[in-house]
Amino acid sequence: MGEKIARISITLPEELLRELDRSLKSQDYASRSEAIRDAVRDFLANYKWRSELEGEFLGVVVMVYDHEVRGLTEEILEIQHRSEGIIRSSQHLHLDERNCMETLLVKGTAEEIRKLADRLGALRGVKQVKLVVAGT
Ligand code: NI
Repeated sequence: MGEKIARISITLPEELLRELDRSLKSQDYASRSEAIRDAVRDFLANYKWRSELEGEFLGVVVMVYDHEVRGLTEEILEIQHRSEGIIRSSQHLHLDERNCMETLLVKGTAEEIRKLADRLGALRGVKQVKLVVAGT
């Protein structure tokens, strides 16, 4: 019995698409759709994992963003200041002309840390937010 299939169209920056195509070639993916299906499953699994975290823990939030997106740096700073109760330290690395990486050591409840990671991840220009749980 086959799954019902829906067709959607998405927009991507050209450079991202080129990168995707290069990686598909080297990974022997049959199609972009197959790779995007896997990426969506991965995104949902990560969301499920995050939403099931409970209690207090120590963690690291790693983010990569494009600092040339207007207003983004200010927004990130603002969010971090509002979460000063759980951010124990932060480190900034300039990756190249546009991209920055920031790591935040956090300690707090799952809900606080999740909220912080979700807020950062939803900003336009933020390319990646990873949450690593280091201990409870
Ligand atoms: Ni930077």
